[in-house]
Amino acid sequence: MVSTHPIAVQPSGSQYLPQQRSNDAEISPNQQLLPLTARVNQHDFLEIGGCDVQTLVQQFGSPLYIVDEKTLRTACRQYRDTFKEYYQGESQVLYASKAWNCLAICAIAASEGLGIDVVSGGELYTALTAGVSPDKLYLHGNNKSLEELLFAIESACTIVVDNWHELRTLVSIAENSALGTIRIMLRLTPGIECHTHEYIRTGHLDSKFGFDPNDLAEVFAFVSQQPSLNCVGLHAHIGSQIFERQPHRDLANVMVQWLRDAAKYGIEVTELNVGGGLGITYIESDDPPSIEEWSKAICEVVQTACTSENLPLPKLLCEPGRSLIATSCVTAYTIGSTKEIPEIRTYLTIDGGMSDNPRPITYQSVYRAVVANKMSAPLTETVTIAGKHCESGDILIKNAQMPKTEPGDVLVVMATGAYNYSMASNYNRLPRPAAVLVANGEANLILQRETYQDLIRQDCLPERLKYKG
Ligand code: LLP
Repeated sequence: MVSTHPIAVQPSGSQYLPQQRSNDAEISPNQQLLPLTARVNQHDFLEIGGCDVQTLVQQFGSPLYIVDEKTLRTACRQYRDTFKEYYQGESQVLYASKAWNCLAICAIAASEGLGIDVVSGGELYTALTAGVSPDKLYLHGNNKSLEELLFAIESACTIVVDNWHELRTLVSIAENSALGTIRIMLRLTPGIECHTHEYIRTGHLDSKFGFDPNDLAEVFAFVSQQPSLNCVGLHAHIGSQIFERQPHRDLANVMVQWLRDAAKYGIEVTELNVGGGLGITYIESDDPPSIEEWSKAICEVVQTACTSENLPLPKLLCEPGRSLIATSCVTAYTIGSTKEIPEIRTYLTIDGGMSDNPRPITYQSVYRAVVANKMSAPLTETVTIAGKHCESGDILIKNAQMPKTEPGDVLVVMATGAYNYSMASNYNRLPRPAAVLVANGEANLILQRETYQDLIRQDCLPERLKYKG
């Protein structure tokens, strides 16, 4: 995607426009900061999906999540097509909807042929309502409630069993109901270390998720004795925002060994799910593999390992979340007050913060921002972008390089599609922002902005507490 505006010699917001990496055939969305359709128009304003960002804010309010349909569809297609191209067996890419679960996003992923990974009854309900076919739905979770298990069984989706308690609960559900055999996969902890934030690592042995690989023989022996459980596959996930190449290769190898072990117990495992975890570019120095590079490596490792073990190729699944959705979205805010502390720092405040993006305060995540109505202005200021919450730690970006701004300018924080809306809260009773989907100059609302009425919708005021004057 080429800007119609010449890239300024001095650093400016334009430097973040999508760029081809020298030897890639196609831009991989996870390696960009701005969505693929981002351009700067003749007024020096940022456009996404053919829509002027400042106009979107005027029309739909602020803050606003803006999702570029083309970027999301491109990421889905790249995953789907590389698995088809490099894997000789069957494959199925799932979207890990915890990254952003709502009707429109589930519907787009499904329309690109993806299945959906859900982790709760609520995510399952949303995906089903979006029209996702149950045979492409997989329910995860380390403490699924009885209601969630029954909901999943009745909807005929696959349950990824996490632990002994769940395994026994499923056997007892099957024995005491007429629900028939239950389609399951087993989640295992591979014991593979990767370098990412401690909170988002899941595959190391000290993890709350999955069966301990040392219990494998016992688990397989148990499952093989349960006619009510149809164990179709094995699952593992090692963590999130991973740039290293080796951990996922190691994982794919380890999983093929498990597949061989399951066969010894007469369990015919036909599906392998290697999880998600591919990282994205939040700042210039982030260097994740492309979607194609990551997918190709997994396909090759599984294929080679199965050939050397003389095993038939399983159906290969993966479940990326962040790398599918993150860079298709930006969050637009309106700049308000400034506080200058001489010799220390200048705070620039926006009209959202930790309630719409809790990642900086939770994981010390770093972001980049541009000013939508000053895309080519030189970055002469160093400011700290603060949210509006009553909390000193509510800082979105420390020491951001910015042009000179004034109240009313539109600040755009990039790569906010993953784990922003899905982790958003109403802290300080801020209504959650709206989200729009943009494509070909059109913008469609996909999430309405919450109202004050929404905020008190679930509140109950017992009669005896009512103020009588
Ligand atoms: N599969 C399982 C079982 C997972 O637990 C996760 C993420 C994924 C797939 C998708 O991983 P991804 O491709 O998105 O890396 N809230 C954190 C991220 C938590 C990730 C949880 N599991 C954040 O904001 O960074």
